Amino acid sequence: MKVMVIGGGGREHAIVKKLKESAKVSELYVLPGNGGMAADAKLVDISADDIGAIVDFAVNSGIDYAVVTPDDPLVAGTVDALNEKGIPCFGPRRDAAMLEGSKAFAKGFMRRHGIPTAAYEVFDSEAEALTYVAAAPLPTVIKADGLALGKGVTIAETHEAAAEAVREAMSGRKFGDSGSRLVIEQFLTGPEVSVLCFTDGKTIKPMVSGMDHKRARDGDIGPNTGGMGAIAPNPYYTADIAAECMEKIFLPTIRGMAEEGRPFTGCLYFGLMLTPDGPKVIEYNCRFGDPETQAVLPLLQSDLMDIMLATTNGTLAETPVEFSNDSCCCVVMASDGYPVKYEKGFKLSIAPEVEPYVYVAGAKLADGELLTNGGRVIGVTAVGATLAEAVKTAYERTEKVSFANAYYRRDIGGRALAKE
Ligand code: AMP
Ligand code: GLY
Repeated sequence: MKVMVIGGGGREHAIVKKLKESAKVSELYVLPGNGGMAADAKLVDISADDIGAIVDFAVNSGIDYAVVTPDDPLVAGTVDALNEKGIPCFGPRRDAAMLEGSKAFAKGFMRRHGIPTAAYEVFDSEAEALTYVAAAPLPTVIKADGLALGKGVTIAETHEAAAEAVREAMSGRKFGDSGSRLVIEQFLTGPEVSVLCFTDGKTIKPMVSGMDHKRARDGDIGPNTGGMGAIAPNPYYTADIAAECMEKIFLPTIRGMAEEGRPFTGCLYFGLMLTPDGPKVIEYNCRFGDPETQAVLPLLQSDLMDIMLATTNGTLAETPVEFSNDSCCCVVMASDGYPVKYEKGFKLSIAPEVEPYVYVAGAKLADGELLTNGGRVIGVTAVGATLAEAVKTAYERTEKVSFANAYYRRDIGGRALAKE
Protein backbone atom coordinates (compact mmCIF):
# COMPACT_ATOMS: atom_id res chain seq x y z
CA MET A 1 0.00 0.00 0.00
CA LYS A 2 1.00 3.57 -0.64
CA VAL A 3 0.52 5.39 2.65
CA MET A 4 0.86 9.07 3.48
CA VAL A 5 1.22 10.61 6.92
CA ILE A 6 0.19 14.23 7.38
CA GLY A 7 2.21 16.22 9.90
CA GLY A 8 5.80 16.96 10.66
CA GLY A 9 6.89 16.44 14.26
CA GLY A 10 8.34 13.80 16.56
CA ARG A 11 4.98 12.10 16.89
CA GLU A 12 4.74 11.75 13.13
CA HIS A 13 8.27 10.36 12.98
CA ALA A 14 7.33 7.72 15.57
CA ILE A 15 4.27 6.78 13.47
CA VAL A 16 6.33 6.69 10.27
CA LYS A 17 8.97 4.42 11.82
CA LYS A 18 6.31 2.05 13.12
CA LEU A 19 4.45 1.94 9.80
CA LYS A 20 7.72 1.16 8.04
CA GLU A 21 7.83 -2.12 9.97
CA SER A 22 4.58 -3.26 8.36
CA ALA A 23 4.79 -5.66 5.42
CA LYS A 24 1.63 -4.03 4.04
CA VAL A 25 3.30 -0.66 3.52
CA SER A 26 5.24 -0.48 0.27
CA GLU A 27 5.63 3.29 -0.04
CA LEU A 28 5.53 5.88 2.68
CA TYR A 29 5.13 9.64 2.23
CA VAL A 30 5.06 12.37 4.83
CA LEU A 31 3.54 15.84 4.29
CA PRO A 32 5.52 17.91 5.04
CA GLY A 33 7.59 15.86 7.51
CA ASN A 34 10.98 17.31 8.32
CA GLY A 35 14.56 16.74 7.19
CA GLY A 36 15.18 14.29 10.01
CA MET A 37 12.68 11.84 8.55
CA ALA A 38 14.18 11.67 5.07
CA ALA A 39 15.63 8.20 5.63
CA ASP A 40 12.24 6.78 6.64
CA ALA A 41 9.74 8.34 4.24
CA LYS A 42 9.54 10.47 1.13
CA LEU A 43 9.17 14.09 2.15
CA VAL A 44 6.49 15.99 0.27
CA ASP A 45 6.64 19.75 0.56
CA ILE A 46 2.95 20.34 1.27
CA SER A 47 1.77 22.00 4.46
CA ALA A 48 -0.35 19.87 6.80
CA ASP A 49 -2.96 22.66 6.68
CA ASP A 50 -3.31 22.86 2.90
CA ILE A 51 -6.29 20.56 2.39
CA GLY A 52 -6.60 21.27 -1.33
CA ALA A 53 -2.96 20.42 -2.05
CA ILE A 54 -3.11 17.33 0.19
CA VAL A 55 -6.12 15.97 -1.66
CA ASP A 56 -4.57 16.69 -5.07
CA PHE A 57 -1.34 14.98 -4.08
CA ALA A 58 -3.17 11.93 -2.75
CA VAL A 59 -5.29 11.56 -5.88
CA ASN A 60 -2.43 12.17 -8.32
CA SER A 61 -0.03 9.84 -6.51
CA GLY A 62 -2.50 7.00 -6.06
CA ILE A 63 -2.34 7.06 -2.27
CA ASP A 64 -4.19 4.08 -0.76
CA TYR A 65 -4.41 5.29 2.81
CA ALA A 66 -3.86 8.52 4.72
CA VAL A 67 -2.93 9.02 8.36
CA VAL A 68 -4.05 12.49 9.45
CA THR A 69 -2.19 13.27 12.64
CA PRO A 70 -2.28 16.91 13.86
CA ASP A 71 -5.27 18.62 15.46
CA ASP A 72 -5.76 21.56 13.07
CA PRO A 73 -6.06 19.47 9.88
CA LEU A 74 -8.47 17.07 11.63
CA VAL A 75 -10.67 19.84 12.98
CA ALA A 76 -10.58 21.55 9.57
CA GLY A 77 -12.02 18.44 7.89
CA THR A 78 -9.06 16.89 6.06
CA VAL A 79 -10.45 13.38 6.57
CA ASP A 80 -13.81 14.42 5.09
CA ALA A 81 -12.10 15.92 2.05
CA LEU A 82 -9.96 12.79 1.45
CA ASN A 83 -12.90 10.43 2.03
CA GLU A 84 -14.87 12.36 -0.59
CA LYS A 85 -12.23 11.31 -3.12
CA GLY A 86 -12.45 7.72 -1.93
CA ILE A 87 -9.26 7.76 0.12
CA PRO A 88 -9.65 5.99 3.48
CA CYS A 89 -8.06 7.68 6.47
CA PHE A 90 -6.88 7.10 9.99
CA GLY A 91 -8.43 9.89 12.03
CA PRO A 92 -11.87 11.30 12.80
CA ARG A 93 -14.07 13.25 10.47
CA ARG A 94 -14.62 16.88 11.31
CA ASP A 95 -17.82 16.42 13.28
CA ALA A 96 -16.10 13.90 15.58
CA ALA A 97 -12.88 15.94 15.85
CA MET A 98 -15.08 18.51 17.63
CA LEU A 99 -14.24 16.63 20.85
CA GLU A 100 -10.96 18.52 20.65
CA GLY A 101 -11.98 21.37 18.36
CA SER A 102 -14.44 22.84 20.83
CA LYS A 103 -14.04 22.53 24.57
CA ALA A 104 -17.63 23.76 25.00
CA PHE A 105 -18.80 20.92 22.76
CA ALA A 106 -16.69 18.39 24.70
CA LYS A 107 -18.00 19.60 28.06
CA GLY A 108 -21.61 19.57 26.85
CA PHE A 109 -21.09 16.08 25.46
CA MET A 110 -19.72 14.84 28.79
CA ARG A 111 -22.63 16.43 30.63
CA ARG A 112 -25.15 14.79 28.27
CA HIS A 113 -23.55 11.37 28.76
CA GLY A 114 -22.70 11.50 32.44
CA ILE A 115 -18.93 11.32 31.85
CA PRO A 116 -16.98 12.60 34.88
CA THR A 117 -15.27 15.94 34.31
CA ALA A 118 -14.75 19.27 36.13
CA ALA A 119 -17.88 21.39 36.74
CA TYR A 120 -17.99 24.29 34.27
CA GLU A 121 -19.76 27.23 32.65
CA VAL A 122 -19.54 28.48 29.07
CA PHE A 123 -19.35 32.20 28.24
CA ASP A 124 -19.78 34.11 24.98
CA SER A 125 -19.87 37.50 26.67
CA GLU A 126 -16.83 39.08 28.28
CA ALA A 127 -18.97 41.05 30.73
CA GLU A 128 -20.66 37.90 31.97
CA ALA A 129 -17.38 36.01 32.20
CA LEU A 130 -15.85 38.87 34.22
CA THR A 131 -18.80 38.92 36.63
CA TYR A 132 -18.49 35.17 37.04
CA VAL A 133 -14.73 35.05 37.70
CA ALA A 134 -14.92 37.93 40.19
CA ALA A 135 -16.62 35.56 42.63
CA ALA A 136 -15.38 32.19 41.35
CA PRO A 137 -13.60 29.78 43.71
CA LEU A 138 -9.79 29.90 43.33
CA PRO A 139 -7.82 28.70 41.53
CA THR A 140 -10.08 29.10 38.51
CA VAL A 141 -9.39 27.38 35.20
CA ILE A 142 -10.07 29.44 32.07
CA LYS A 143 -9.97 27.74 28.69
CA ALA A 144 -10.31 29.09 25.17
CA ASP A 145 -13.01 27.09 23.41
CA GLY A 146 -11.07 26.39 20.22
CA LEU A 147 -7.61 25.16 19.28
CA ALA A 148 -4.86 27.39 20.64
CA LEU A 149 -1.60 25.49 20.05
CA GLY A 150 -1.93 23.99 23.53
CA LYS A 151 -1.68 27.45 25.10
CA GLY A 152 -5.35 28.19 25.65
CA VAL A 153 -5.55 27.16 29.32
CA THR A 154 -4.92 29.55 32.23
CA ILE A 155 -4.97 28.47 35.84
CA ALA A 156 -5.65 31.71 37.73
CA GLU A 157 -4.68 31.90 41.40
CA THR A 158 -6.29 35.30 42.00
CA HIS A 159 -9.47 37.02 40.84
CA GLU A 160 -7.34 39.69 39.13
CA ALA A 161 -5.40 37.09 37.15
CA ALA A 162 -8.67 35.41 36.16
CA ALA A 163 -10.13 38.70 34.93
CA GLU A 164 -6.93 39.39 33.00
CA ALA A 165 -7.09 35.96 31.33
CA VAL A 166 -10.71 36.56 30.33
CA ARG A 167 -9.91 39.97 28.85
CA GLU A 168 -6.82 38.75 26.99
CA ALA A 169 -8.75 35.92 25.38
CA MET A 170 -11.97 37.77 24.59
CA SER A 171 -11.43 41.45 23.73
CA GLY A 172 -7.63 40.95 23.47
CA ARG A 173 -8.16 38.10 20.96
CA LYS A 174 -4.93 36.44 22.15
CA PHE A 175 -6.07 33.16 20.60
CA GLY A 176 -8.03 34.72 17.73
CA ASP A 177 -11.52 33.27 17.23
CA SER A 178 -10.61 30.32 19.46
CA GLY A 179 -10.97 32.57 22.51
CA SER A 180 -14.23 34.33 21.67
CA ARG A 181 -15.98 31.64 23.68
CA LEU A 182 -14.58 30.51 27.04
CA VAL A 183 -15.05 27.49 29.25
CA ILE A 184 -14.45 28.33 32.90
CA GLU A 185 -14.14 25.32 35.11
CA GLN A 186 -13.47 23.90 38.52
CA PHE A 187 -9.83 23.31 39.46
CA LEU A 188 -9.13 19.61 39.98
CA THR A 189 -6.18 17.94 41.65
CA GLY A 190 -4.46 14.60 41.27
CA PRO A 191 -1.95 12.83 39.05
CA GLU A 192 -2.48 13.21 35.32
CA VAL A 193 -2.55 10.25 32.95
CA SER A 194 -2.70 10.22 29.17
CA VAL A 195 -4.53 7.27 27.65
CA LEU A 196 -4.44 7.00 23.87
CA CYS A 197 -6.99 4.60 22.43
CA PHE A 198 -7.62 3.08 19.03
CA THR A 199 -11.26 3.06 18.06
CA ASP A 200 -13.38 2.19 15.05
CA GLY A 201 -16.42 3.94 16.50
CA LYS A 202 -17.81 0.81 18.19
CA THR A 203 -14.86 -0.92 19.82
CA ILE A 204 -12.22 0.92 21.81
CA LYS A 205 -8.78 -0.51 22.61
CA PRO A 206 -6.53 1.51 24.91
CA MET A 207 -2.79 1.67 24.38
CA VAL A 208 -0.43 1.55 27.33
CA SER A 209 -0.92 4.61 29.51
CA GLY A 210 1.50 7.50 29.42
CA MET A 211 2.69 10.51 31.37
CA ASP A 212 3.61 13.80 29.75
CA HIS A 213 6.00 16.36 31.30
CA LYS A 214 4.60 19.69 30.15
CA ARG A 215 6.67 22.21 32.08
CA ALA A 216 9.93 23.47 30.65
CA ARG A 217 12.14 22.89 33.69
CA ASP A 218 13.11 20.20 36.14
CA GLY A 219 10.74 19.79 39.06
CA ASP A 220 7.73 20.74 36.92
CA ILE A 221 8.39 24.46 36.98
CA GLY A 222 8.71 27.03 34.22
CA PRO A 223 6.36 27.71 31.33
CA ASN A 224 4.10 25.11 29.74
CA THR A 225 5.55 23.54 26.60
CA GLY A 226 4.37 21.11 23.96
CA GLY A 227 5.86 18.41 26.21
CA MET A 228 9.46 17.87 27.37
CA GLY A 229 9.30 14.11 27.70
CA ALA A 230 7.05 11.16 28.37
CA ILE A 231 7.08 7.75 29.95
CA ALA A 232 4.88 4.69 29.52
CA PRO A 233 3.23 2.97 31.24
CA ASN A 234 2.11 5.48 33.87
CA PRO A 235 2.46 3.86 37.31
CA TYR A 236 -0.51 5.81 38.71
CA TYR A 237 -2.80 4.09 36.22
CA THR A 238 -3.47 0.77 37.94
CA ALA A 239 -5.53 -2.10 36.52
CA ASP A 240 -8.45 -1.10 38.79
CA ILE A 241 -8.36 2.48 37.58
CA ALA A 242 -8.10 1.29 33.98
CA ALA A 243 -11.24 -0.83 34.44
CA GLU A 244 -13.09 2.11 35.99
CA CYS A 245 -12.04 4.39 33.12
CA MET A 246 -13.20 1.86 30.54
CA GLU A 247 -16.63 1.60 32.16
CA LYS A 248 -17.24 5.24 33.11
CA ILE A 249 -15.30 7.17 30.50
CA PHE A 250 -14.05 5.32 27.40
CA LEU A 251 -17.11 3.26 26.48
CA PRO A 252 -19.63 6.02 27.27
CA THR A 253 -17.59 8.37 25.06
CA ILE A 254 -17.56 6.02 22.09
CA ARG A 255 -21.21 5.10 22.50
CA GLY A 256 -22.23 8.72 23.03
CA MET A 257 -20.47 9.87 19.87
CA ALA A 258 -22.09 7.06 17.85
CA GLU A 259 -25.53 7.91 19.31
CA GLU A 260 -25.07 11.55 18.38
CA GLY A 261 -24.37 10.56 14.79
CA ARG A 262 -20.68 11.44 14.85
CA PRO A 263 -18.88 8.15 15.38
CA PHE A 264 -15.24 8.70 16.34
CA THR A 265 -12.60 6.69 14.49
CA GLY A 266 -8.82 6.86 14.77
CA CYS A 267 -6.93 7.66 17.95
CA LEU A 268 -8.85 9.21 20.81
CA TYR A 269 -6.67 10.65 23.55
CA PHE A 270 -8.08 10.92 27.05
CA GLY A 271 -6.29 13.45 29.24
CA LEU A 272 -7.34 12.23 32.69
CA MET A 273 -6.86 13.46 36.21
CA LEU A 274 -7.04 10.87 38.99
CA THR A 275 -8.88 13.03 41.52
CA PRO A 276 -9.84 12.04 45.08
CA ASP A 277 -13.38 11.57 43.61
CA GLY A 278 -12.18 9.23 40.89
CA PRO A 279 -10.82 9.69 37.37
CA LYS A 280 -12.10 12.71 35.46
CA VAL A 281 -11.58 13.92 31.91
CA ILE A 282 -9.43 17.05 31.69
CA GLU A 283 -9.48 17.08 27.91
CA TYR A 284 -10.06 14.99 24.83
CA ASN A 285 -7.63 15.11 21.94
CA CYS A 286 -8.82 13.76 18.61
CA ARG A 287 -5.37 12.39 17.73
CA PHE A 288 -2.15 10.87 19.00
CA GLY A 289 -0.55 12.99 21.73
CA ASP A 290 2.94 14.33 21.48
CA PRO A 291 5.33 13.33 23.08
CA GLU A 292 3.28 10.44 24.56
CA THR A 293 3.17 8.68 21.18
CA GLN A 294 6.97 8.59 21.16
CA ALA A 295 6.90 6.60 24.42
CA VAL A 296 3.88 4.42 23.60
CA LEU A 297 4.44 3.22 20.02
CA PRO A 298 7.85 1.64 20.73
CA LEU A 299 5.95 -0.75 23.04
CA LEU A 300 3.40 -1.75 20.38
CA GLN A 301 3.95 -5.32 19.22
CA SER A 302 1.06 -5.60 16.76
CA ASP A 303 1.18 -4.27 13.22
CA LEU A 304 0.24 -0.58 13.31
CA MET A 305 -0.99 -0.61 9.71
CA ASP A 306 -3.37 -3.51 10.48
CA ILE A 307 -4.74 -1.62 13.46
CA MET A 308 -5.18 1.59 11.51
CA LEU A 309 -7.01 -0.24 8.73
CA ALA A 310 -9.23 -1.90 11.35
CA THR A 311 -10.27 1.49 12.76
CA THR A 312 -11.38 2.47 9.26
CA ASN A 313 -13.02 -0.85 8.34
CA GLY A 314 -14.85 -1.33 11.63
CA THR A 315 -12.96 -4.53 12.45
CA LEU A 316 -11.05 -3.42 15.54
CA ALA A 317 -12.80 -6.03 17.74
CA GLU A 318 -11.10 -8.83 15.77
CA THR A 319 -7.73 -7.11 15.40
CA PRO A 320 -4.97 -7.70 17.94
CA VAL A 321 -3.61 -4.65 19.76
CA GLU A 322 -0.77 -6.01 21.89
CA PHE A 323 1.81 -4.11 23.88
CA SER A 324 4.92 -5.45 25.54
CA ASN A 325 5.20 -5.36 29.33
CA ASP A 326 8.32 -3.22 29.11
CA SER A 327 8.58 0.48 29.86
CA CYS A 328 9.60 3.31 27.59
CA CYS A 329 11.04 6.75 28.22
CA CYS A 330 11.26 9.64 25.76
CA VAL A 331 13.45 12.64 26.58
CA VAL A 332 12.81 15.68 24.41
CA MET A 333 15.89 17.70 23.49
CA ALA A 334 14.88 21.27 22.75
CA SER A 335 16.55 24.51 21.73
CA ASP A 336 17.62 26.47 24.80
CA GLY A 337 15.01 29.10 25.61
CA TYR A 338 12.08 27.08 24.24
CA PRO A 339 9.12 27.72 24.48
CA VAL A 340 9.75 31.46 24.77
CA LYS A 341 12.64 32.52 22.55
CA TYR A 342 15.26 30.33 20.93
CA GLU A 343 17.67 30.11 18.04
CA LYS A 344 17.72 27.50 15.31
CA GLY A 345 19.91 26.49 12.39
CA PHE A 346 22.58 24.65 14.40
CA LYS A 347 24.18 21.47 13.10
CA LEU A 348 22.41 18.43 14.50
CA SER A 349 24.39 15.22 14.78
CA ILE A 350 22.90 11.89 15.71
CA ALA A 351 25.25 8.92 16.14
CA PRO A 352 24.21 6.03 13.87
CA GLU A 353 23.85 3.61 16.80
CA VAL A 354 21.10 5.70 18.39
CA GLU A 355 19.31 6.69 15.19
CA PRO A 356 16.69 3.92 15.49
CA TYR A 357 15.66 5.37 18.87
CA VAL A 358 15.51 9.00 17.87
CA TYR A 359 12.44 10.80 16.55
CA VAL A 360 13.12 14.11 14.88
CA ALA A 361 10.67 16.91 15.63
CA GLY A 362 12.36 20.02 14.26
CA ALA A 363 15.18 19.74 11.72
CA LYS A 364 15.82 20.53 8.10
CA LEU A 365 18.26 19.27 5.52
CA ALA A 366 20.58 21.86 4.00
CA ASP A 367 23.27 20.66 1.59
CA GLY A 368 23.02 17.17 3.02
CA GLU A 369 23.45 18.40 6.58
CA LEU A 370 20.83 18.26 9.29
CA LEU A 371 20.18 21.60 11.00
CA THR A 372 17.92 22.30 13.98
CA ASN A 373 14.71 23.96 12.92
CA GLY A 374 12.36 24.23 15.86
CA GLY A 375 11.83 24.58 19.57
CA ARG A 376 11.57 20.88 20.17
CA VAL A 377 14.31 19.25 18.10
CA ILE A 378 14.30 15.53 18.87
CA GLY A 379 12.86 12.88 21.14
CA VAL A 380 15.38 10.32 22.36
CA THR A 381 13.74 7.08 23.48
CA ALA A 382 14.61 3.81 25.13
CA VAL A 383 12.70 0.68 26.05
CA GLY A 384 13.68 -1.24 29.17
CA ALA A 385 12.40 -4.11 31.26
CA THR A 386 11.81 -1.57 34.02
CA LEU A 387 11.09 2.14 33.94
CA ALA A 388 14.38 2.80 35.72
CA GLU A 389 16.26 1.00 32.97
CA ALA A 390 14.37 2.81 30.20
CA VAL A 391 15.11 6.19 31.80
CA LYS A 392 18.78 5.37 32.27
CA THR A 393 19.23 4.20 28.69
CA ALA A 394 17.32 7.15 27.23
CA TYR A 395 19.62 9.58 29.07
CA GLU A 396 22.69 7.64 27.93
CA ARG A 397 21.47 8.01 24.37
CA THR A 398 21.06 11.78 24.72
CA GLU A 399 24.86 11.86 25.00
CA LYS A 400 25.05 10.52 21.44
CA VAL A 401 23.11 13.42 20.00
CA SER A 402 24.41 16.95 19.85
CA PHE A 403 23.55 20.44 18.74
CA ALA A 404 24.94 23.74 19.97
CA ASN A 405 22.05 25.02 22.10
CA ALA A 406 20.58 21.73 23.31
CA TYR A 407 18.45 21.89 26.44
CA TYR A 408 16.59 19.04 28.09
CA ARG A 409 15.07 18.17 31.42
CA ARG A 410 17.11 15.81 33.59
CA ASP A 411 14.13 14.44 35.51
CA ILE A 412 11.88 12.80 32.94
CA GLY A 413 10.34 9.77 34.63
CA GLY A 414 11.40 11.01 38.07
CA ARG A 415 7.92 11.39 39.48
CA ALA A 416 6.86 8.04 38.04
CA LEU A 417 9.90 6.31 39.57
CA ALA A 418 9.15 7.88 42.94
CA LYS A 419 5.58 6.59 42.73
CA GLU A 420 6.81 3.07 41.89
P1 AMP B 1 -5.10 21.26 28.33
O1 AMP B 1 -4.57 22.29 27.37
O2 AMP B 1 -6.57 21.12 28.36
O3 AMP B 1 -4.32 19.99 28.24
O4 AMP B 1 -4.69 21.80 29.78
C1 AMP B 1 -3.35 21.99 30.08
C2 AMP B 1 -3.09 21.57 31.48
O5 AMP B 1 -3.81 22.40 32.38
C3 AMP B 1 -3.56 20.15 31.82
O6 AMP B 1 -2.66 19.17 31.44
C4 AMP B 1 -3.68 20.26 33.30
O7 AMP B 1 -2.42 20.12 33.91
C5 AMP B 1 -4.17 21.66 33.52
N1 AMP B 1 -5.62 21.68 33.70
C6 AMP B 1 -6.56 21.76 32.73
N2 AMP B 1 -7.79 21.74 33.26
C7 AMP B 1 -7.63 21.65 34.60
C8 AMP B 1 -8.52 21.59 35.72
N3 AMP B 1 -9.84 21.63 35.56
N4 AMP B 1 -7.99 21.48 36.94
C9 AMP B 1 -6.65 21.46 37.13
N5 AMP B 1 -5.76 21.52 36.14
C10 AMP B 1 -6.23 21.61 34.88
N1 GLY C 1 0.82 15.77 25.11
C1 GLY C 1 -0.38 16.50 24.97
C2 GLY C 1 -0.84 16.71 23.61
O1 GLY C 1 -0.43 16.07 22.67
O2 GLY C 1 -1.69 17.56 23.44
